[in-house]
Amino acid sequence: MTQSKALPQPIRFIKGGVLHTLHDVPPDRTLLEVLREDLHQTGTKEGCGEGDCGACTVVVGYLQGGKLQTHAVNSCIKLAHSLDGMALWTVEDLAAPGGRMHPAQEALVQCHGSQCGFCTPGFVMSMAALCEQAGQKPITRESAQQALSGNLCRCTGYRPILDAACQMQALPPMPLDSPALRQQLKALAKSVAADAASTRSAHPAYLAPTTLPNLLALRQAHPDAQLVAGCTDVGLWVTKQHRQFARVLDTTRVEELRQVDRYPHHIAIGAAVSLQDAFAALVKDRPQLQSFADRFAGLPVRNAGTLGGNVANGSPIGDSMPLLIALGSHIVLASTRGYREMPLESLYTGYRQTCMAADEVLAYIKVPRPQRGALARVYKISKRTEDDISAVCLALQLQIHKGQVTHASVGAGGVAATPARARATEAALRGQPWTEATVRAAMDTLRAEFSPISDMRASGDYRRQVLGNLLWRFWLESQGQFATDIHRLDLELQA
Ligand SMILES: Cc1cc2nc3c(=O)[nH]c(=O)nc-3n(C[C@H](O)[C@H](O)[C@H](O)COP(=O)(O)OP(=O)(O)OC[C@H]3O[C@@H](n4cnc5c(N)ncnc54)[C@H](O)[C@@H]3O)c2cc1C
Ligand code: FES
Ligand code: FES
Repeated sequence: MTQSKALPQPIRFIKGGVLHTLHDVPPDRTLLEVLREDLHQTGTKEGCGEGDCGACTVVVGYLQGGKLQTHAVNSCIKLAHSLDGMALWTVEDLAAPGGRMHPAQEALVQCHGSQCGFCTPGFVMSMAALCEQAGQKPITRESAQQALSGNLCRCTGYRPILDAACQMQALPPMPLDSPALRQQLKALAKSVAADAASTRSAHPAYLAPTTLPNLLALRQAHPDAQLVAGCTDVGLWVTKQHRQFARVLDTTRVEELRQVDRYPHHIAIGAAVSLQDAFAALVKDRPQLQSFADRFAGLPVRNAGTLGGNVANGSPIGDSMPLLIALGSHIVLASTRGYREMPLESLYTGYRQTCMAADEVLAYIKVPRPQRGALARVYKISKRTEDDISAVCLALQLQIHKGQVTHASVGAGGVAATPARARATEAALRGQPWTEATVRAAMDTLRAEFSPISDMRASGDYRRQVLGNLLWRFWLESQGQFATDIHRLDLELQA
């Protein structure tokens, strides 16, 4: 595979109130490498190098509608060029000039939340992001747990760390946001846009278009460029497989792909919407999905990763796809030739293979709004509750009218080479009375429908067994909890 030689453009970002401009950074260099090796700022640590431990957590900031948005992300799997035009905070940037510590740091000291200290900079950054986002809203144990779901500590234990997170707000605040920073970011955005316009014909090594037509034109001109979104899958190809990319095409600045649009019959989620925002949109329609959303990776990965990246990557153990299949979602592929729409499951042609052409990108995921009387659930089975990949995932949506199943859609993950639709099981349910006998028969069908492999996460037999058990769980839950769901939905539809 050959690619024309392209020069990297500079990376500009505000760190510690100062504009940094870095030259000649290769397009596949990670932010952590830049911090530790180029800037010699070694406060940010490297643990796993794959987004799992949180030792490398930093906070990034950008303006949206004039407001500063801040997110904790993993610098080990973030490409440095994706930072162009943003603000960055590492553990070196939090204390006030006189040395007064940020409330996140002070609270950790007061609560004895650190021992060897290796994980501490990462925890501090996740806590600083939480403090910033909470503002006046109280930080609860639950919100602290969510914010720290991507940080591991091997020696202190989490109780004092969570105590510290809950106590930060009792200390004098030190906001990251300020009018001066917003001014700096505005000025920076102007110069980034001007540079992009002047170098457009040069096609540099890191391409970050801001409109869909530009993205599609660049995709057509550079089919060999590595397409990236949040880089939470691709980052591991760099850090673990040592893959190198001569040119990268980043989708995350494309305005059209960063939006969630709500229509009467569906919501359209842009492929570059973060997992966190995409799940928030899904949960708005179906609150029962919240606990599933919270179990997708940890917060820094959900902040950086996108729904489009999950779907396009096509992993058989990707979590969003079984759910999206069960909800009857469609995807829209785009190229300079036009758009094509298809049911999500039709995207996959084999193990990590899709029918996307070399000049196409995934543009939107269209998810139907809930129907009255629909029962929808998704179950994820993994070894750890938080921050773990599924061994099996099963999602079901049933429509029951006068005791009969009038519609059934079932999506499954971890049981085949691709995310799959359980068509035989759907047929076994459709038109049948919603009774224990129907469910028991459908459990047998579901267990026979797939031939899952055995691997380090689970044996094939276990996966088959669990599939059926999850359908049984759905049946049991339908006897109680669903009545509440339907009642709530009915009230909403009447309102
Ligand atoms: C610590 C950790 C935990 C994780 N936990 C989970 C989990 O619990 N469940 C789960 O399902 N996944 C998990 N993942 C995997 C990953 O976070 C998701 O797959 C994520 O959604 C990928 O999105 P991204 O934007 O980062 O994609 P990227 O890494 O940027 O891209 C992934 C692939 O999608 C392609 N792509 C991206 N956008 C488009 C587009 N618009 N059109 C066409 N192709 C595109 C890229 O070319 C690439 O091939 C985890 C990852 C990490 C590091
Ligand atoms: S080093 Fe472990 S998450 Fe980055
Ligand atoms: S203090 Fe040692 S790993 Fe957390």
